[in-house]
Amino acid sequence: MSELERWEARFSAPGYLFGKEPNGFLKNKAHLFKPGQKALSIADGEGRNGVFLAEQALDVLAIDISPTALAKSQALAKERGVTLRTELSDLATWQWPAAAFDVVVAIFFQFCTPAERAQVFANIKRALKPGGLLLMQGYRPEQLVYKTGGPSEVENLYTRALLEQAFGDFASLEIDEYDSVINEGAGHGGMSALIDLVGRK
Ligand SMILES: C[S@@+](CC[C@H](N)C(=O)[O-])C[C@H]1O[C@@H](n2cnc3c(N)ncnc32)[C@H](O)[C@@H]1O
Repeated sequence: MSELERWEARFSAPGYLFGKEPNGFLKNKAHLFKPGQKALSIADGEGRNGVFLAEQALDVLAIDISPTALAKSQALAKERGVTLRTELSDLATWQWPAAAFDVVVAIFFQFCTPAERAQVFANIKRALKPGGLLLMQGYRPEQLVYKTGGPSEVENLYTRALLEQAFGDFASLEIDEYDSVINEGAGHGGMSALIDLVGRK
């Protein structure tokens, strides 16, 4: 089964796999947004985060490889009365615009191999405007013990050293590692080994 088939199968079930409420880390950073800012949410899935950004009056583009997920994200945007632009695309081949976004959001996109991830990280940096904000959350290797969500390949998970190496040239960088219980639909639930990144290009 390809990665696309795997996600299509997961998103074809009724309801929202990761719920309709935004990711908690993202929600806690809402004070950093300014109305009208251009935001990109990568691997946005069924739209819980893209719709939240639109509700904060940001001009949002959400991209994902799954047509089923994007149909659900459009339904959620309609339900909430906001506009969300969506684009069906593979992050590996998407034509990333340069210096185009004030905000890039990357929540749980840990399907990439290390080589693909390096390319995506470089593209995120290029796509941010100078001073632009990157918000990223993922799982740490310790998550393999909790088994409450995320990939099973340790090389896909994030460490502080990995993120510092990738984004150490940012004007500011905060990385927070902690364990916490999260409840994000059936997809992510229970004690989780998390790592948050807040950076400014
Ligand atoms: C763990 S889900 C997270 C979804 C969303 N960020 C959230 O937090 O609710 C991972 C997402 O990555 C998407 N995805 C997987 N491979 C992709 C690729 N190559 N390009 C773009 N999106 C991809 C899946 O369709 C899925 O929506």
